[in-house]
Amino acid sequence: MEKENTLTVAVLGAGNIGSAMARGLAGSGHTVHLYNRGAARLESFGSMPGVVPTQSLEDALRGADLSLICVEGHAVMPLIGAMGRFLESQSVVVGSCAAAISTEELSEALGRFVSQPKVFRLLPNIAATAGKSTNLLCAKGIGNSDLSALQSIFECTGTTLIVEERLFPAAMALSSCGIAYAMRYVRATMSAGVQLGLSPAVAEAITAGVLDGTAALLASGKHPEELIDTVTTPGGLTIRGLNAMEAAGFTPSVIAGLTAAAKV
Ligand SMILES: NC(=O)c1ccc[n+]([C@@H]2O[C@H](COP(=O)([O-])OP(=O)(O)OC[C@H]3O[C@@H](n4cnc5c(N)ncnc54)[C@H](OP(=O)(O)O)[C@@H]3O)[C@@H](O)[C@H]2O)c1
Repeated sequence: MEKENTLTVAVLGAGNIGSAMARGLAGSGHTVHLYNRGAARLESFGSMPGVVPTQSLEDALRGADLSLICVEGHAVMPLIGAMGRFLESQSVVVGSCAAAISTEELSEALGRFVSQPKVFRLLPNIAATAGKSTNLLCAKGIGNSDLSALQSIFECTGTTLIVEERLFPAAMALSSCGIAYAMRYVRATMSAGVQLGLSPAVAEAITAGVLDGTAALLASGKHPEELIDTVTTPGGLTIRGLNAMEAAGFTPSVIAGLTAAAKV
């Protein structure tokens, strides 16, 4: 699994996440065998370059270097059971996007068919559908160079971070759940903007632009508090707003929400 090679990837499940993965992988030159149980979700992929849609698990796995399971959590183990007789090589690499299934469980299930299972978890968030996911990656039975190759392969759907599996609940609270929290922040700023006389569309456009600009500023490597200092003129309006938000419990609310979401 060399970084520079294009691969044949079996993406198993064509829901929101599987479709996004298929688009990203095909867009970066890989060949995708996109399997789905039902026909409906495959229809839009009929003429997409690099994607071969199929309802046959056997066809999807034939010649695949890598498989990525993107079905609902309850369907993962039955799917691995069904994959067993079609796996062509002992060195097959199988990953899963399911939120709550560990590499230990994946390895045990795949171990019924191959002697030394190579498994990974890839936890995207829903921004994968816009090519802007923050993916979390960990693996079992896969060496560092292949892990870094996987990281590079999945950059096609957004940033991919290698995270220790024991920290997945924490990282998922910030990443997968984080989209919902950021959206709630957007909705709150829109409510304030409308109260102040802006149209919802203008309030939304301003907030989206601010979030985009904030991400770009963070890429400079500066600490958030240093960047805040550049905006908060002493005695000015920004610090007045910030202090009013903190008095209403902004930081403790965010910490309480994230720690609640990270409880397993
Ligand atoms: N959405 C997120 O933000 C997010 C983030 C991180 C991880 N994930 C994980 O990604 C996986 C897919 O999520 P999603 O949001 O893409 O779901 P989704 O859009 O609802 O799609 C569900 C997929 O699972 C398939 N499926 C359901 N039951 C099945 C069964 N019994 N046998 C075979 N296939 C079955 C569906 O196939 P049919 O069309 O045939 O029903 C469809 O391909 C889940 O494991 C989820 O935990 C999702």
